[in-house]
Amino acid sequence: MNYNFDETIERRNTYSLKWDGAELIKQFGITDRYDEDTIPLFTADMDLPVAQPIVDALHKTVDHRIFGYTILPDAYFEAIQKYFHKRYDWAIDKEQIVFSPGTVHALNIAVKALTEPGDGVIIQRPVYPPFTSAVEGNGRVVKNNALVMDEDGRYSINFEEFEELAKDEDTKLFIHCHPHNPTGRVFTPEESKKLADICKRHNVTIIADEIHGDLVRNDQTFTPMVLAADETDHIITCTAINKTFNVAGLHCTNVIIENEDLREKFTVELGMQLPTPFTVAALIAAYTEGDDWLSQVNEYLDGTLEWMQEFLAEHMPKVKVRIPEGTYVMWLDFRGYGIDDKEIHDRIYNKANVILEDGTMFGPEGAGFQRICIPSPRPLIKEAMERIAREFEDLN
Ligand SMILES: Cc1ncc(COP(=O)(O)O)c(C=O)c1O
Repeated sequence: MNYNFDETIERRNTYSLKWDGAELIKQFGITDRYDEDTIPLFTADMDLPVAQPIVDALHKTVDHRIFGYTILPDAYFEAIQKYFHKRYDWAIDKEQIVFSPGTVHALNIAVKALTEPGDGVIIQRPVYPPFTSAVEGNGRVVKNNALVMDEDGRYSINFEEFEELAKDEDTKLFIHCHPHNPTGRVFTPEESKKLADICKRHNVTIIADEIHGDLVRNDQTFTPMVLAADETDHIITCTAINKTFNVAGLHCTNVIIENEDLREKFTVELGMQLPTPFTVAALIAAYTEGDDWLSQVNEYLDGTLEWMQEFLAEHMPKVKVRIPEGTYVMWLDFRGYGIDDKEIHDRIYNKANVILEDGTMFGPEGAGFQRICIPSPRPLIKEAMERIAREFEDLN
C-alpha cells in the first residue's frame, strides 16, 4: 500500500499534547503564545497516518467491545524477537524482555533500581530533557559528558572525559541516547564498543535508550550497542514501537535486560505492569506487518530533511544545520544571527507563531540552538519555515 504523507490529518480536538495541550505547553515553559494559528513542531510524534495493519488491528480490538485486563501473549514476544532478528540480526531471549508503559518511565525505574540517592549518572548533553529529570528528580547527580561539536556541526564523544567520569567511585549508571536526540548522531560500532568497554572496566551499568534506532537515514546503519560491544551483561536496552510506528499514545516500551541480577532489580522496582489490549494488538501488527510503512516513512523523512536543508541554505543562510544521521529532529544553530536566545525565541514563537524547542531545554550547551521535529506533512513544515524565515529576513 502507498501512503500519502502529504495529507493533512486534523489533530485538534483529539486530546493531542501537541495540538490540544496549550495549557500544559505553557506550564512546561515551552512558550507563552499558543492559539488557533500556532504551528506546533516541538514534541516528537508524527502528524502522519500510522501503518494500515496497525489501524486494522486496533479496529478489531475495538470491535470486540470488552477492554479488560490484558496479558502479554507468546505472539507479543515472538513479534519482538522476529523483528529485531530480521532487522538487526539480534537474537533476544524471551526472558530478557521486560514490558514498560513508556521509555521515560523505564529510565526512571532504572535510576531508582540500580543507583542510590547521591550516586552519579552520566548523560551526554545537549540531551533529551527527561534524562536530566530522571537523574535529578530521583536525587541522583548528573555527570555530564557533553558532546563536542566540530566546525561542520557534527558531534562526537569526549572519551577521555567519559572515562574520568566513569572512574569516579560514585558513578553507577550511564544513560545513553542512541541515536542521539537532539544532535542526530548515530554512533559507529567502534564508538559504541568504546563506551561499553569503559563502562565495563569501571562497573558502570548502561541503559541505552535506542527507541529512535529504526529511524535513520538511507545511507546510515544503526547498530544496537549490545551488538557492537564485546561484553554485554552490563547493558540494558530500551526498544519501543512508540517512535518508530508513531504510536506514542499507546505507551509501549520493551526493555531488554540480559543480566538476571539487573533484570530482577529492575522488575522489582517496576512492579506489576499490564499492557492494554490496544498495546498488544498494535505491537504485533507493527512488528510483523509494519515494514512496508516504515520504509515509506523513512523515505519521506529523508525527503523532508533534504528540503529543510535546501530551504535554510536559500532563505536563512545564517542558520547552520546538518541532516541528522538518525531521529526526525533537526538541531538548528542560530548563533550566526548574533542575537540572544530571548530574541531568537521571540521571533519564532511569538512573531512567527511556530513552536519549536529552545536549545537550552537540552542543557546549557544548547544556547543559540533550536530543535525542530519534522515528521509532519511537508506542506505544514513549509508553511512553518516560511513564517520563521520572514521573521529573520532583516538579519540575513
Ligand atoms: C530519546 C527519547 N527517549 C524517550 C522518549 C519518550 O519515550 P516514551 O514516550 O516511550 O516515554 C523520547 C521522546 O521524544 C525520546 O526522544
